[in-house]
Amino acid sequence: MGRRSSFRNPREILDLIDLERYPIDDLETGKGAEFVRDCRAQMDAQGWCNLDRFIRPDALSALVAEAGELLPGAEHLTIKRTIYGGKVDASVPAGDPRRREYTHRALQLADDQIPAETLIQRLYRSDTLTDFIRRVQGKGELYRYADEFQALNIVALQPGSWHGWHYDYNECTVTLLLQAADKGGEFTFIPNARSRDGENRKTVDGFLAGDMTHARTFARGAGTLTLFRGEYSLHGVTRIEGERPRITAIFTYDEQPDRIASDEINIRIYGERAARILAERRQAH
Ligand SMILES: [Fe+2]
Repeated sequence: MGRRSSFRNPREILDLIDLERYPIDDLETGKGAEFVRDCRAQMDAQGWCNLDRFIRPDALSALVAEAGELLPGAEHLTIKRTIYGGKVDASVPAGDPRRREYTHRALQLADDQIPAETLIQRLYRSDTLTDFIRRVQGKGELYRYADEFQALNIVALQPGSWHGWHYDYNECTVTLLLQAADKGGEFTFIPNARSRDGENRKTVDGFLAGDMTHARTFARGAGTLTLFRGEYSLHGVTRIEGERPRITAIFTYDEQPDRIASDEINIRIYGERAARILAERRQAH
């Protein structure tokens, strides 16, 4: 843990990152400027940007150990939802995705369960990282999501489970794979399956029926950082096989400062614990 202690210095949180390969600490000049231009071009052309081994191997061990200490306190979530995040709508025609429900089971830590002094929380709260994400996503302004539950999450998918297909509530999602599954557990998505103008229903219907023609998936080793547009790209994770859980940290951003989610959405995502916290707060006022 000698290495971990050096990450305690606030200026050194960026040492978690392989800055030689991914110079996010200097995006204005030379190598860094070229790097961020390439990432942006990839995001624009493909709808995703994948940074393999973004986290240095020794730092990854520290992050995995930290997640291992926190996860026993996580909630076992079971969420039933359509790909759009809501309940099944029985009034729409048969075959419509709004009639199809997926069950998501995970061991999940919400932001308020991840202490401020942890490495992962400090990495997420790094302005340097946020600025890098902003540039790759092509946004004039980008802020870490202010929601007390959703901002940063750690999600462990146990063997036998998968993360059902869905769209995120936020456009800019970043996932950091902390621990890969032995087998399976592949992040799979359809880049830009919908836009502000509508959804490509033909592609989505085909995908939900098992046609993977338009789906993207790639092997991601532990330590990989992936940027994509979760609000517009239907996505999920294939079934976890083998013995090890698959553990990811999910970083959420918004173009508006201080944006929070509605109580209804947080209760839908985080269940009983969020409902209790929110109800107690309402009573206290
Ligand atoms: Fe998602």
